[in-house]
Amino acid sequence: MSLSNETIKIIKSTVPVLEVHGATITKVFYENMLTEHPELLNMFNEVNQKEGKQQQALANLVYAAAQNIDQLENVLTKVQLVANKHRGLGVKPEHYPIVGKYLLLAIKEVLGDAATDEIMNAWEEAYGLIAQVFIDIETKMYQETADQNGGWDGFKDFIVTDKVKESDVITSFYLKAKDNKELANYKTGQYLTVRVTIPNEKYMQIRHYTISAAPGTDTYRISVKKEIDCTPNGKVSTYLHDLVNVGDTIEASAPSGTFILEESNRPITLISGGVGITPMISMLETLSSKQSTQVINFVHSARNHSVHAFHDHVSGLVSALPNAEYTYGYSDLNSANQGDFSGYLTKETLEQAVKENTICYVVGPVPFMKHVANLLSELGLSEANIRYELFGPAQDILEEISI
Ligand SMILES: Cc1cc2nc3c(=O)[nH]c(=O)nc-3n(C[C@H](O)[C@H](O)[C@H](O)COP(=O)(O)OP(=O)(O)OC[C@H]3O[C@@H](n4cnc5c(N)ncnc54)[C@H](O)[C@@H]3O)c2cc1C
Ligand code: HEM
Repeated sequence: MSLSNETIKIIKSTVPVLEVHGATITKVFYENMLTEHPELLNMFNEVNQKEGKQQQALANLVYAAAQNIDQLENVLTKVQLVANKHRGLGVKPEHYPIVGKYLLLAIKEVLGDAATDEIMNAWEEAYGLIAQVFIDIETKMYQETADQNGGWDGFKDFIVTDKVKESDVITSFYLKAKDNKELANYKTGQYLTVRVTIPNEKYMQIRHYTISAAPGTDTYRISVKKEIDCTPNGKVSTYLHDLVNVGDTIEASAPSGTFILEESNRPITLISGGVGITPMISMLETLSSKQSTQVINFVHSARNHSVHAFHDHVSGLVSALPNAEYTYGYSDLNSANQGDFSGYLTKETLEQAVKENTICYVVGPVPFMKHVANLLSELGLSEANIRYELFGPAQDILEEISI
């Protein structure tokens, strides 16, 4: 399907108008869609809706795609990231017309008479084209996921075989397929999308958790931070910590994600803040299992010693590798135990761990990621050498960090 020059012209000239009304359109769109299709609340994270982050992310990507409607390859990297999330969540082709319908209705409702039939027809066509790009990529992903050894379609049951406290706030859960089948392999750095039914909650809750161990075992390990320094407490993390024990069942879809340890001999620096350590553990374990001779720097920042997870494990792995270093520090200045640095990660610390051709992997809370992004830029590291993962809706924040 291709659009006429006239339709392309209309789309490109209306994107800026829609962006001006962006927040209102997305609010109306989601409210109407979720009121009339409450079953979708089993899939959408209520918190991300309330904060408006996800609506905005979706709308921004629609606008970016519309702006590039005659060269959609310009937005394919973003589409890939979202398609991975969609695949984990279970977004299917039949969902696209629903989103399209309410998005178009919202555009009409907000723009009123300014949204002429001509404009609305052009947008209907453009949405169809954009949706098809997602559907094609996701259909292929579903197929590949189901066809791989140990692969499966949608969600399936896992039994918790072990539950291990890693720090005062982070606990690991080891998951084994209930059907005892072989597990689908994953790439180091990928996440598992977990679905739980919490007592007294009307809808199922879905969250993503990085697989915090190297591939190649008969379990998936996820390591979850209990979100209790906030109001209200995090639903799923609190449920997992407090109510899910060895022998219990949770559902998960097959591993997904684009934040992956790349095969290379270049120096690697793994930089994490707080629970952002989870993919870094998987990466370090993978490098360790290969007895990598690469230059590896593991840099971690935690609030204090009591919430610092995997410390002994990292020390052990690093000391067994020939060219690996471990640097850690605590942001609580009055913490009794201070690591290699105090307060926030400094440029001096990173300078030791990052050379011109280093590949940096960065994960942590948003302020931490912004701080590290600034430091890496001050150190002159090219953006092409930095990989980021965000533990929440990613698009907009990644753009803010200007990647
Ligand atoms: C790719 C990826 C990988 C991830 N990997 C990990 C991992 O390895 N380990 C890990 O622990 N986490 C990980 N996460 C984060 C995880 O998916 C969850 O977001 C996290 O566990 C919080 O979920 P929750 O249900 O406990 O909290 P939620 O209930 O979703 O709440 C989250 C926050 O929103 C606030 N909130 C709740 N309700 C409202 C409201 N009505 N209005 C405003 N604010 C509200 C809460 O106070 C809390 O601060 C990852 C996320 C992604 C996207
Ligand atoms: C062309 C249409 C669509 C676009 C451009 C789009 C875009 C996005 C974007 C940008 C995100 C945020 C990803 C992230 O960074 O975390 C997202 C997440 C999501 N999308 Fe889509 N999407 C589309 C269609 C759909 C459809 C049809 C559904 C299913 C009804 C859907 C369900 C979801 C869900 C459940 C999330 C995660 C929300 C959350 O819980 O945070 N999307 N989408």
